[in-house]
Amino acid sequence: MRKAVIRAEQVTRNLKLGTHVVPALRGVDLAIYANEMVGIVGPSGSGKSTLLGIVGGLDSPTDGTIEIDGIDITRMSEGQLTDIRNQKIGFVFQFFNLIPTLTALENVALPIEFAEAPRHKPFDRARELLEMLGLGDRYQHRPSELSGGQQQRVAIARALANDPPILLADEPTGNLDTHSGETVLQALKTIRDDNGTTVVMVTHDQSLAAQMDRVLTLVDGRIVNGVASDLVNASGKQNAAKA
Ligand SMILES: Nc1ncnc2c1ncn2[C@@H]1O[C@H](COP(=O)(O)OP(=O)(O)O)[C@@H](O)[C@H]1O
Ligand SMILES: [Mg+2]
Repeated sequence: MRKAVIRAEQVTRNLKLGTHVVPALRGVDLAIYANEMVGIVGPSGSGKSTLLGIVGGLDSPTDGTIEIDGIDITRMSEGQLTDIRNQKIGFVFQFFNLIPTLTALENVALPIEFAEAPRHKPFDRARELLEMLGLGDRYQHRPSELSGGQQQRVAIARALANDPPILLADEPTGNLDTHSGETVLQALKTIRDDNGTTVVMVTHDQSLAAQMDRVLTLVDGRIVNGVASDLVNASGKQNAAKA
């Protein structure tokens, strides 16, 4: 049997909004396997970011079970979750959050310099990752001297600096034009293929979602499909949910 790198069983998450409770997730079951590249789509407010936060140990479920790389993280303390995040997870968000005063190379090297038990020499690894993502000629550029797509690829390199087995990306192309979005998707494919990283990407872009191995569609806090061939169907459901 293939090994699930991420496993969720009946995960629920109730969020408090003032005096009422929003059921952001209502019983999510999923298994994501090593080296898969999985897309998560669904209407705004359907729980995509909430799910990614729980999978990444930024948040804990109200109920249900979540396992990362075979470890049950459901009832871990904040400190334990921080360790899991540092060892297992790389995050990429819509906004790149690079440090503006540092070069691309320095931005990528930084998390290795801060790691408790670094596995790489910071600048050697940073060069290797930037090279892998097609930025071999941009080491010394600062974020303001790079395009959006280039900045997001630097952010991906930074997320991979300490070799996490899992990369979670929440709308990483949401702030980019189509061409730049495509270069970011190619970068994610490269790290999956060459680095063996399992990639989970939330996206609104159907043409990017269609390039994933598998697409999960969330509607109202539940997964309503599981395979790529459901995508056309799923977008129909999404439209229905929006209307
Ligand atoms: N910090 C929060 N406090 C209260 N409710 C929240 C919070 N964050 C998100 N929500 C609500 O939870 C639901 C799911 O949100 P989210 O996971 O951000 O959806 P998506 O990423 O699919 O747009 C929405 O109804 C949203 O309004
Ligand atoms: Mg979101």
